Amino acid sequence: MERIPVAGPSITQREIDYVTDAATNCWYGAANKYHDRFESTFARYIGVTYSVALPSCTSAIHLSLAALGIGPGDEVIVPDVTWIASAAPIEYVGAQPVFADIDPQTWCLSPAAFARSITEKTRAVILVDLYGNLPQFDELLKIAKANNIAVIEDAAEAFGSEFHGRKAGSLGDVGVFSFHGSKTMTTGEGGMLVTNRKDLYDRVQVLRDHGRTPGDVSFFNQEVAFKYKMSSFQAAMGLAQVERAEELIARKREIFGWYHERLANMRGVTLNPEPAGTRNSYWMSTVVLDPSMGLAKETVIGRLAAEQIDSRPFFHPLSHIPAWRQTPAAARAREENVNAYAISPFGVNLPCGLSITEAQVDRVCSAFRAIVENHSSSAKRAA
Ligand SMILES: Cc1ncc(COP(=O)(O)O)c(C=O)c1O
Repeated sequence: MERIPVAGPSITQREIDYVTDAATNCWYGAANKYHDRFESTFARYIGVTYSVALPSCTSAIHLSLAALGIGPGDEVIVPDVTWIASAAPIEYVGAQPVFADIDPQTWCLSPAAFARSITEKTRAVILVDLYGNLPQFDELLKIAKANNIAVIEDAAEAFGSEFHGRKAGSLGDVGVFSFHGSKTMTTGEGGMLVTNRKDLYDRVQVLRDHGRTPGDVSFFNQEVAFKYKMSSFQAAMGLAQVERAEELIARKREIFGWYHERLANMRGVTLNPEPAGTRNSYWMSTVVLDPSMGLAKETVIGRLAAEQIDSRPFFHPLSHIPAWRQTPAAARAREENVNAYAISPFGVNLPCGLSITEAQVDRVCSAFRAIVENHSSSAKRAA
């Protein structure tokens, strides 16, 4: 039986042609040809003024925090359930992450938990668009503004999602994207930082090139900073992918639609939400099981794997993983974040690579149904 991978890209002749051109021609004076085209096309698509192509989304978050001047003594609020990359850069700049609870409907930062987590040290919040889902931006942005808190929107997983006509990534002071190979649009590895703020854009340009202003040829660095650049092969790949943005997103939505048709009516199973006025680009088609079923994500993943189906665990709470478990911030989060601890243990990302077929989704859904039904009947027998 053919193994079904959990994620994967869509690569066409356009990507191959652009990357071949970059490898052949983009040296010397033409070295930045694809960076310029990729950045301007991406900015236009997202609806922002400035964009900077980077080696990863992690570096984009690091630069966002550094450009905002966040450092030791500052606190940055982050949802407890996300990939570690949303929060690790807070430590890179010497600030303190504060892990706040998620909302049971959106799986993103809860506005009430955000408000509760603010102290006089809070300088920024990182709003994560988890799996393509969007948080309640109206309330969150209002709270941030009232408390003079900078907003970094981590749209790593939400390329093409929309909140009342605004593209994910464009809602905060800074937005960041990932183009890792598993993402809806990819450059192999890569990221983008977007903003409408000229002050942040100018600062990022210096910080990402060892303290040099763009165009500097004197090699006379003004400060110690970072080296965060993308290669022209990646920029060429990125341009081809962003030119195909709507096609890629339509495909992700089609895949989710196949899952929705087959699983939405299962009792105790919740799929990614798409509240009125939003468009979900469904990076990961995800199921969350009702905790009362007692069916842990690890069990589901193991049983799917036995059927040659790859899947992934819903992110663990950051306050639970060894990287932070021993810290006082994590101990507080474990007591307070009831939604994070009710959802994360029972969530699974199902295979949704861009090349998956409807027949494969059918196979995944049959296997998933059988796992849930067998578990329910053995639980009944035991009772
Ligand atoms: C929510 C979130 N933030 C940040 C990142 C980091 O992206 P990268 O791997 O490009 O650094 C990821 C990557 O998977 C992510 O899912």
